[in-house]
Amino acid sequence: MRLGVLTGGGDCPGLNAVLRGLVRRGVLEFGHEFVGILNGYEGLMEPRLTMPLPLSEVKGILPKGGTILGTSNKANPFKYPERVDGKLVEVDRSDVAVKRYHELGLEGLVVIGGDGTLSIGHQLAQKGLNVVGCPKTIDNDLSGTDVTFGFDTAVGIIAEAIDRLHTTAEAHQRVMVVEIMGRNAGFLTLEGALAGGADVVLIPEIPYRAEAIVRKLKDRVTRGSKFSIIAISEGAYPAGGEVAVAQKAEDIPGRGVVRLGGSGKVLADLLAPHIDAEIRVTVLGHLQRGGTPSAADRVLATMYGAMVLDLVRDRRWDHMVCLREGRLQFTSLAESRKERHVDVTGDKVRMARSMGISFGD
Ligand code: F6P
Repeated sequence: MRLGVLTGGGDCPGLNAVLRGLVRRGVLEFGHEFVGILNGYEGLMEPRLTMPLPLSEVKGILPKGGTILGTSNKANPFKYPERVDGKLVEVDRSDVAVKRYHELGLEGLVVIGGDGTLSIGHQLAQKGLNVVGCPKTIDNDLSGTDVTFGFDTAVGIIAEAIDRLHTTAEAHQRVMVVEIMGRNAGFLTLEGALAGGADVVLIPEIPYRAEAIVRKLKDRVTRGSKFSIIAISEGAYPAGGEVAVAQKAEDIPGRGVVRLGGSGKVLADLLAPHIDAEIRVTVLGHLQRGGTPSAADRVLATMYGAMVLDLVRDRRWDHMVCLREGRLQFTSLAESRKERHVDVTGDKVRMARSMGISFGD
């Protein structure tokens, strides 16, 4: 078969490992031919944004971060950004994507991405395209799967960053606030903070109160620890307050969702009047998405890439691979659209609380 493949949304360590798993099994076991669609869905909308993907193209890419196909989170065919009277507006151009799929002679399309990319894939499947999916995101917030590749790598980066902040925080007796990605889910912050030994963990699922955090910081000083580490999700917010938005959705045509950012600064401003120690904010930002995938992510991504071909073989379009209860399985693409959140009554939160970690509530 002639299959198209694209990587959409924010990049994430392991994307190249998926491509390698897909192309290797696809060529070696099934004799498929692959067409790389460049820059996410943009490659289905604009001419000359494709490349052949023979075995030679996927050689040596297993440990590489990013994606050899490029990606975009502003090229939704159903809300495609177009300039009308000098202004960028969103227009439904999904018919262009459908036409181009046929012009390229594709018999199937593999979409590798987060909820945005997968739900566009689902919409295209409803327009008659043979779409199958592979979930990815460092945020780990997709309801269709227990784990996404990229998450383990990002948690490792966060833990290392917190380790490094610890030594400088201790030396200067400062309060270090570290702002962590994850959109509206706190998985990255919770796991990164547990791995790094943060003192306060603020996640979107538990709105925080500045007074509770001030109490915790003062209590630490009384007990002899003159420094503290606060891990805060970009999506965390004070009770009764709002999430810190860096850019509104309407200012990013084609993206459809806000860009979060600034929660660390909001928190620091709330704490500063009540705390003697200096407070410094570190925004980890895209460091969390860059670089080589961890061994665990390489394995998961490779398995996902190879397993997608079971869906193609069985003509189970509009489905994606997933990992549930430790087993690789399949689920509908529609399932991927639901967001997953930290269980605030779950073991990790309960045990963290029992060890004296504050959730700011
Ligand atoms: O979904 C992955 C993610 O890194 C989120 O954690 C973050 O909110 C968002 O993407 C940032 O997107 P961008 O790279 O477009 O700023």
